[in-house]
Amino acid sequence: MFTPGRITDIDARRSLTPAEVARIEASMDAHAVTILPGQNIDDEQQLAFSRNFGPLEDGANSGARDRDLRLPVVFADVSNLDRDGKIAARENKKRMAALANRLWHTDASFRVIPARYSILSGRIVPADGPDTEFADMRTAYDALDARTKAEIEDLVCEHSLIYSRGQLGFTEFLPDERVAMKPVRQRLVRTHPVTGRKSLFLASHIGTIVGWPQPEAMAFIRDLIEHATQPQFVYVHKWTQHDLAMWDNRATMHRVRRFDDLNIVRDVRRTTTKSEGPTVQQVAA
Ligand SMILES: [Fe+2]
Repeated sequence: MFTPGRITDIDARRSLTPAEVARIEASMDAHAVTILPGQNIDDEQQLAFSRNFGPLEDGANSGARDRDLRLPVVFADVSNLDRDGKIAARENKKRMAALANRLWHTDASFRVIPARYSILSGRIVPADGPDTEFADMRTAYDALDARTKAEIEDLVCEHSLIYSRGQLGFTEFLPDERVAMKPVRQRLVRTHPVTGRKSLFLASHIGTIVGWPQPEAMAFIRDLIEHATQPQFVYVHKWTQHDLAMWDNRATMHRVRRFDDLNIVRDVRRTTTKSEGPTVQQVAA
């Protein structure tokens, strides 16, 4: 069973003490997911809270244009709202792109410096809204047999939003979007810098394994994702208004489930901090 940490006595609206930051980090190192319920925060408070855990990355997806955004680019607007604050129409481009959040993934594995923590604030969380599911990539790694562990130890994958969206048949990208979404390389097995635990760095953003024929690579990645998302590795989060959910992208995958997003407002806002650095050297542009 995968159980998140839960912290109920820290107020994310106030500036944190070093001891409070250390407690949250310890919870993240132990559990990889931590829930802080009852955090009725605004955007500024969320930004200040998040900066305790490293530099922020731009959360808006590559290729998004400022004029299309409801929130500043530092946020990933994971709501179902358009730039005017109305429920996004069925064919809305942001809505279409966000459908890929229903596939198992880690945030920003398609960036050269991938994400450390994602911090998701439930501002408007409908009772019949979707659950978010988290899978523990540490225990999933531990459960592999020795032969598979040896086989994957040094493998490198290519990640891009083009691959994850492409799985849903979303293939219309502008030329500058294709440049912005150029695949980046990441290790398949990574070691957590604090705990030293190994984990599978999997995501639907993967499009191939370097040096492998692509179909063979994708069949294998599919097997690994299937393995890593078995119920014993998964925590299902049922949202309550003002939950603040944090996850370590170096040690987990997640996905959001389907809901009636054309009729029910769900406003959740994500900030994301950067990890230590690239997991492998990148190929020259
Ligand atoms: Fe995500």
